Amino acid sequence: MTTKSQAVLNWIDERFPLTSTWKAHLSEYYAPKNFNFWYFFGSLALLVLVIQIVTGIFLVMHYKPDASLNASGVPVAFASVEYIMREVPGGWLIRYLHSTGASAFFIVVYLHMFRGLLYGSYRKPRELIWIFGTLIFLVLMAEAFMGYLLPWGQMSFWGAQVIVNLFSAIPVIGPDLSLVIRGDFVVSDATLNRFFSFHVIAVPLVLIGLVVAHIVALHEVGSNNPDGVEIKKKKDSTGKPLDGIPFHPYYTVKDIVGVVAFLFFFSAVVFFAPEGGGYFLEFNNFIPADPLKTPPHIAPVWYFTPFYSILRAVTYPLFGLDAKFWGVVAMGASVVIIAFLPWLDRSPVKSIRYKGPIFKIAVVIFVIAFFILGYLGVLPPTPGRTLVSQICSVLYFAFFLLMPWYSKLDKCKPEPERVNFK
Ligand code: HEM
Repeated sequence: MTTKSQAVLNWIDERFPLTSTWKAHLSEYYAPKNFNFWYFFGSLALLVLVIQIVTGIFLVMHYKPDASLNASGVPVAFASVEYIMREVPGGWLIRYLHSTGASAFFIVVYLHMFRGLLYGSYRKPRELIWIFGTLIFLVLMAEAFMGYLLPWGQMSFWGAQVIVNLFSAIPVIGPDLSLVIRGDFVVSDATLNRFFSFHVIAVPLVLIGLVVAHIVALHEVGSNNPDGVEIKKKKDSTGKPLDGIPFHPYYTVKDIVGVVAFLFFFSAVVFFAPEGGGYFLEFNNFIPADPLKTPPHIAPVWYFTPFYSILRAVTYPLFGLDAKFWGVVAMGASVVIIAFLPWLDRSPVKSIRYKGPIFKIAVVIFVIAFFILGYLGVLPPTPGRTLVSQICSVLYFAFFLLMPWYSKLDKCKPEPERVNFK
């Protein structure tokens, strides 16, 4: 560094902790040296968050949250999205980056959560990282749900109608609650405006705050790794973990590999299949919202469907409350239960590498049940499908609720003293 730039840096450091922050979180943040590809998904989630915010800012420049009809009889909101797609220079790219980004966000976050499950990253002392993560997941779902109303297509309108109506099943407060969410007796211009406001500013602020808390908590305790070994336990004479390497430059450079691989697949979808076969952008949503015409089949976007299936799997009333209410409870519980993993897993080891066969089989059954639930959630229900989704819902909850028992019962291998790295 030249003396001049050093002088500038000193001037800043005397007024703002620039160098010390850089050291604490990058150049002297020691991460385990055995990270594998599963560790790409945290930084990729950050990348997608930035993509969504930047493309969102540009979309708002031409999007109009207005449900009234224009001179051609098309809702203004729907027409403004078509205007972005056809008239605004580069608008189609910004819109497809944002719509594909929504699905990419969930793919990346699901893989990121699965990594946590594989390596027991939720276990002590990382419980708060996991709780912040579960909250991020909940808030991300709210963000995606409200964003989906904005193009004001048939699926936007009827999807919101179905989901907001669910809240009315809650005893006593339900009907008023759904009225407050909609701002009207039906999904209308008032709903579109409040969802726009939440989607564009309120929820992203909460999301960013939670992501900061998530990373601060991570850097407080240090990263886990595929062996589940605590690297802080073995340090050299200078106090550096023996199995640790500085995050910068080692992982900043390695993460670029993940970014390049991700952008390869992401741009393939954006440029060649932005509708994602009707899963990323549903075909019915290319039809303007019509409150008088219910589509024959209303299905949420793919990332909600496992939880939607759990909702539909509940078909029996209980304690005088109807099945819809218990469906909502089951759906809520299926997300909230994830936050309790740190206390449900009683295994003596963290990583699946050293866990016994029972845990491994349980994970395989859980993943299969989750995929089947996801698949059934996009299809119209039949008695046969409802039965399968009931079985898969039971398996889903059994994975969590029986974990304290089977994770203790399992025959685990001893965890190594130091990380494995070839
Ligand atoms: C916007 C969404 C999210 C972002 C931007 C994000 C970001 C990150 C980053 C950058 C890391 C460090 C790098 C890595 O370990 O991969 C991390 C670690 C972690 N995240 Fe997330 N995350 C998100 C959502 C979630 C969710 C939904 C969960 C779980 C419910 C979760 C659980 C964890 C855990 C347990 C770790 C520590 C992993 C370890 O040390 O092995 N995260 N996250």
